[in-house]
Amino acid sequence: MSALKPQTPSAPLTYGLRPAPAAQPRPASNDAPDTAFRRDFVAALLRRPRRISPKHFYDAVGSDLFDRICEQPEYYPTRTEMAILARHAEDIAARIGPDADLIEFGAGSALKIRLLLDALPSVRRYVPIDISAEHLERAAQGLRHDRPGLDVHPLAADFTQPFSLPPPAEGARSRVGVYFGSSLGNFDADEALRFLRTAAGLLRGGGLLIGVDLVKDPAVLHAAYNDAAGVTARFNLNLLERANRELGAGFDTRLWAHYACYQPLAQRVEMHLIALERQVVRLAGQCFEFAPGDSLHTENSQKYTLESLRALARQAGFGIGPVWLDTQRWFALQWLPCCAGAVH
Ligand SMILES: C[S@@+](CC[C@H](N)C(=O)[O-])C[C@H]1O[C@@H](n2cnc3c(N)ncnc32)[C@H](O)[C@@H]1O
Repeated sequence: MSALKPQTPSAPLTYGLRPAPAAQPRPASNDAPDTAFRRDFVAALLRRPRRISPKHFYDAVGSDLFDRICEQPEYYPTRTEMAILARHAEDIAARIGPDADLIEFGAGSALKIRLLLDALPSVRRYVPIDISAEHLERAAQGLRHDRPGLDVHPLAADFTQPFSLPPPAEGARSRVGVYFGSSLGNFDADEALRFLRTAAGLLRGGGLLIGVDLVKDPAVLHAAYNDAAGVTARFNLNLLERANRELGAGFDTRLWAHYACYQPLAQRVEMHLIALERQVVRLAGQCFEFAPGDSLHTENSQKYTLESLRALARQAGFGIGPVWLDTQRWFALQWLPCCAGAVH
């Protein structure tokens, strides 16, 4: 496995050199605003092992890089999930039913939902939720432009924190959630259960359509998270660049390597940033020292079996409906109905 090589395709590999001075003045570390990113990033560097939530990948640059990951030939999840949606849109639409409010968790560029909207002309309102506010606004504008009749109500929020949905649209008969991209797998088991319980509470009387990546040949997984063009590596390293941009940190990303590997016992891909040399980084008035080989754990991508997904969903209070799969059984779109209740 050659994943310990730094993969920053657009930058020459110049170990040991200091980074070029930034073109824009950056805030002094201590002056950076007290944001959730700042608090979580500092906490991540202080804990052992160092670990941060992957939600912090997604500033505007990270969201654009994720879109580029989806275009890489090795990254099968996006095209596989889209093919399932395209093939089974009518069946899925029949489960969702007429006059629904559609809530999309972690909507990103809101491309997949277009395949469903074609089969759901009576959708009352579409509410894409995403932590990446700028990217979300652009996605919402694109959708409004392409579908002028659709009521698009974007919500820039972190759905792991308390948030409120807009009231149901006039005439809405149900509220249905969609959660694509196997993003559930970015949570650990407790967080995934908490998310599903929250969703079940919001979607009473409707249901959740959830896309998850299934357990498969580790070679396929390894390639997907180590694309030859190095886009996933840039996405991972963007976390340090974000800390430089927003927190005035002084990371030299040439001294860090992207590392992603499948852990067969946990059935998940782990993504890390690995320090290649000893270095000291100042951030928020503190000095953080890294030794060669030190890791910052940036993401888990849990892979599921249908059984493991359904057990989690049942525990969260969902029923189990039909599942739609691709022919290789690499990816699943599972319908999870939610017990009856008024839309509120
Ligand atoms: C893996 S991408 C998937 C994007 C899209 N759903 C797809 O399937 O291509 C995860 C998306 O969820 C968003 N996201 C991650 N954590 C989030 C959170 N805690 N709250 C809201 N959005 C979040 C990210 O900004 C990103 O757009």
